[in-house]
Amino acid sequence: MRFDPAERLCGTITPPPDKSISHRAALLGAISTYPTRITNYLDAADTRSTLAAVSTLGALVEIRDGGGAGAGAGAGGGAAAGAGGGIDLVVRGTGLREAQQPDGPIDVGNAGTLMRLLPGWLAAQKGRTFTLDGDESIRRRPVDRVMEPLRHMGATLTAREDRLPPLTVTGARLRAISYELPVASAQVKSCVLLAALAADGATTVGEPSPSRDHTERMLKRAEVKIHRFGNHVTVVNADELVLEQVRVPADMSSAAFLVAAGLLVPGSRVVLRDVGVNWTRTGFLRIVRRMGAEVGGELEAQGSDLSIEEPVSDLEVRAAALRATTVEPEEVPLAIDELPLVALLGCFAEGETVVRGAAELRVKESDRIAGVVDGLSGLGADIEAASDGFVVRGGGLRGGALDAKGDHRMAMMGAIAGLASREGVEVHGMEAAAVSYPGFVDDLRRLAAG
Ligand code: S3P
Repeated sequence: MRFDPAERLCGTITPPPDKSISHRAALLGAISTYPTRITNYLDAADTRSTLAAVSTLGALVEIRDGGGAGAGAGAGGGAAAGAGGGIDLVVRGTGLREAQQPDGPIDVGNAGTLMRLLPGWLAAQKGRTFTLDGDESIRRRPVDRVMEPLRHMGATLTAREDRLPPLTVTGARLRAISYELPVASAQVKSCVLLAALAADGATTVGEPSPSRDHTERMLKRAEVKIHRFGNHVTVVNADELVLEQVRVPADMSSAAFLVAAGLLVPGSRVVLRDVGVNWTRTGFLRIVRRMGAEVGGELEAQGSDLSIEEPVSDLEVRAAALRATTVEPEEVPLAIDELPLVALLGCFAEGETVVRGAAELRVKESDRIAGVVDGLSGLGADIEAASDGFVVRGGGLRGGALDAKGDHRMAMMGAIAGLASREGVEVHGMEAAAVSYPGFVDDLRRLAAG
């Protein structure tokens, strides 16, 4: 699909519902004893995998309303569909220890979050065995990071080469542990927190620096005893979860593509509605503000206490001249999925933009250090890879072709690169965007027509 240089982008968009929060709402709904009503659940490939998985495990998923991903910018998206294309669901859970053993493997598709979080719950299903498998990309992504703590807790896990999917989990009566994560990963932290619900006492997880805390907030909302002290979180085991209602805000990580587009295309003014601004997700906005962008919105204060709410705000973006910046390692987990966009913005910023401490990018849906560096240099960027990041110098982009290699975020980055380039960009594999943002191309068209 071709993306030609845009003249200016104008309009109001509600980005799609948050993928991380949607996965967690469906999983915690499946673990809950009473029905959980979820409004504005993301209707995209990844989060459909989660609904299918929890159904296989015995939860009942009832779709009440909505659908039509990408249906509607701003107001007037129809009575049923959320403006960003979300759906309304009721999940009737099985309870903490009553997941049913399915006949065959559970297919997680492309969803790394499902592959890492679900084993936490399954580890507590005493005497039952579950196998998780997924697509080609999932089969290249490590699961040893969740195998290690779950083994300490008493579950039995096996995987290909002891580190790659398919992953088989046999549940057990679990022990509470104290565990220090080797890398800041919300997925691994969340896995241990889910297992901790059924362990025999209080489990503590430490992380080298903060990562997204949606699981902690949702557990608190579900009346679980959970506390954060600095970079440690402690969960006391629970008899049951009661999660009555979750409303999913728009996804900051999807909004970030439109923020980048609004900043780069001269003369643009873009308003993004109802975006989740939990401080553990807004690292990208802090980085772009440092680069000289004026992005309006009421962000949650950095370091805020654990709350049961997911704060939301509208964001207003205007095109701006950018200057280079250095992203420090502790900022990385708070902007992990947006770092390809930092590289893209770096192509248009004055000076040298540096990202380091981001080796985790190599184990995302694709190797995002290689993908960003090969992809953007193919479009004329002055960019080099490091083992744990990249260095990019401003000078603009000529354009050309970029292969998304099946990675939704690389496809969307290629599209925005095209709008900001001199000659346009042809993205190979644009359909990958459907993993998190099915209405992406329509939303760009709307902004270009606005
Ligand atoms: C996610 C956490 C991040 C992120 C991923 C979603 C989550 O992964 O890259 O897209 O929902 O917890 P890690 O926690 O493994 O860094």
